[in-house]
Amino acid sequence: GHDLWLRYHALAAAPAGIDTRQAVQLVAGQGSPTAKAASGELVRGLGGLLGKTPELSGTVSRDGALIIGTPASSPVVAGLHLDTRELGREGYLIKSVVVNGHPATAIVGNDDIGVLYGSFRFLRLLQTGHPATGLDLRDRPQVKLRVLDHWDNLDGSVERGYAGASIWDWWKLPGYLDPRYTDYARANASIGINGTVLNNVNADPLVLTPAYLKKVAALAGVFRPWGIRVYLSARFSAPIEIGGLKTADPLDPAVRQWWRDKADEIYRVIPDFGGFLVKANSEGQPGPQDYHRTHADGANMLADALAPHGGIVMWRAFVYSEHDLDDRTKQAYNEFKPLDGAFRDNVLLQVKNGPLDFQPREPFSPLFGAMPKTPLMMEFQITKEYLGFATHLVYLGPLWEEVLRADTYAKGKGSTVAKVVDGQLDGHTLTGMAGVANIGTDRDWSGSVFDQANWYAFGRLAWDPTQSARAIADDWARMTFTPDDAVAKPIVGMMMASREAAVDYMTPLGLAHLMGAGHHYGPAPWDDSLPRADWNPVYYHRADKNGIGFDRTRKGSDAVDQYAPPVAAEFNSLKSTPDAYLLWFHHLPWDYRMRSGRTLWDELVMHYSHGVDEVKQMRATWKSLDGRIDAQRYAQTAAFLAIQQNEAQWWRDASIAYWQSLNHLPLPAGYAPPA
Ligand code: GCU
Repeated sequence: GHDLWLRYHALAAAPAGIDTRQAVQLVAGQGSPTAKAASGELVRGLGGLLGKTPELSGTVSRDGALIIGTPASSPVVAGLHLDTRELGREGYLIKSVVVNGHPATAIVGNDDIGVLYGSFRFLRLLQTGHPATGLDLRDRPQVKLRVLDHWDNLDGSVERGYAGASIWDWWKLPGYLDPRYTDYARANASIGINGTVLNNVNADPLVLTPAYLKKVAALAGVFRPWGIRVYLSARFSAPIEIGGLKTADPLDPAVRQWWRDKADEIYRVIPDFGGFLVKANSEGQPGPQDYHRTHADGANMLADALAPHGGIVMWRAFVYSEHDLDDRTKQAYNEFKPLDGAFRDNVLLQVKNGPLDFQPREPFSPLFGAMPKTPLMMEFQITKEYLGFATHLVYLGPLWEEVLRADTYAKGKGSTVAKVVDGQLDGHTLTGMAGVANIGTDRDWSGSVFDQANWYAFGRLAWDPTQSARAIADDWARMTFTPDDAVAKPIVGMMMASREAAVDYMTPLGLAHLMGAGHHYGPAPWDDSLPRADWNPVYYHRADKNGIGFDRTRKGSDAVDQYAPPVAAEFNSLKSTPDAYLLWFHHLPWDYRMRSGRTLWDELVMHYSHGVDEVKQMRATWKSLDGRIDAQRYAQTAAFLAIQQNEAQWWRDASIAYWQSLNHLPLPAGYAPPA
């Protein structure tokens, strides 16, 4: 699984338009390192897929040639007179053309990085079984910053990482550049990711010291040809810890000077450094509020230090305080909404998709649409902290699609979260999407073969937030396994059902945060062991003998009124709240009558059971593919699905038993008791 979706195994049949009796002619400029990366990838990819290494050529002299480059750097490309105006930066076109009487394919961008992206797209076409004739496609990213956030610590551990240790080998950097770094960059470039935050948001200030900056610079050097910039998580109190100052007050002139000097120092070694990611005044991290300053004061200080170099600040909105126990999900909005318009132009506010914390299902965060003067960057979690870690097969595409397509109604119907994030709704050009990485030293990078799909889907959605999760899964399955429908289609079916299955066996009907407190693995709805109330499951389900659910309506915490009026009205009313969010917004008696006619209790049990049944079905589907997938990847997935089934049953049985200990209700008629 090390090759990810870039396997390039020989295709069963040559794609139409490519004559494999001879090597493909590749007409490519060899200018910049990025141009070399593009032609190198095509050599590698076509060599693998077609079984013949392409022949580099200065001109088209045979049928089926590939011409790649920019009009500015390649006379052959310029001679095609293609209209590239709409491609912007990083965009590309792929077009079937005729040159010197020979049919050929042109992959063209305005910049080399666009050509690199186009080259990966061309390879994807072949990998997914597309013909190489009649091509005429154009694409460009809809979001500017497409970033992986590594929660990697300098000691090599990864917070919420389930795929081994950190791939950054700080001990051997900068002297040794592990080839993995290049593979990492290739994989990211293939899906359009153009930034990486190397270290955990719970940041160690040492990463900002000269010795580490040299290591960071070495990584930046590996990533640069692939269009990827490095960013760092900055600890707000670094001026004290590594600067020897007495304060980190953002309005203190010495502190401001310290950050300016630090930025200058960073840009001396990394001229294209991206900027800082900051977690401040959240879960014990230092921040401007320690000095009675606002989040805007803190973010703007860093933004001012980075601005002369073109750097940006990604300031996180994930904040909640143990002193405010009313409703944790309301706090980010309450703190940040009043600051709309107070941030510098080079600050993005990075908001988790839901108001709580990367649950299997949450409604979208009410901040989306509520801060029109501030670019809001999406933060998704690729690593499955609350979704069964590495062994549960849960494809996150449908979760992310659901959030991106949700309608904020901020400017009337159609004001989707995707339009907030890609800048369309409020006219922002600085836009971004971040994904908390699921990458580690495991041979398969992500802890399981299917977790690679989540990395893949994140990149594709960051490039274009309107893409469909199913189409992305389809490409991934074909590239990762085989373009053969008989294999790819059942795999896509499993993937598309997997997220709802996990919601059902873990937290159905809008329940949330019922995982074991702290580690977040396995069911523990009874848990109240942690010192902070808002870290314990019992805070979230509010169940007792009479009923279950968190009342966030106007009669309860009134979280509903953080949404635009039509959304607030929808969630405030029991009638219009979708079942999927029912217990997120409403506290209801166990015998409440659902739309289905069943009682809430019966419906809940039905969902748990459905989740388990779906996993059984996934196992059966996978079993039917035995012999059609290489033995190693087949066996790993089969073993993991067996674990998942056991644990889905554990979730179902433990949850049902716990609710029964409160409500003393019998199992619904017809419910098959656990085997
Ligand atoms: C979650 C997660 C933490 C992480 C935090 C964050 O609470 O459990 O490990 O640090 O999110 O996003 O900052």
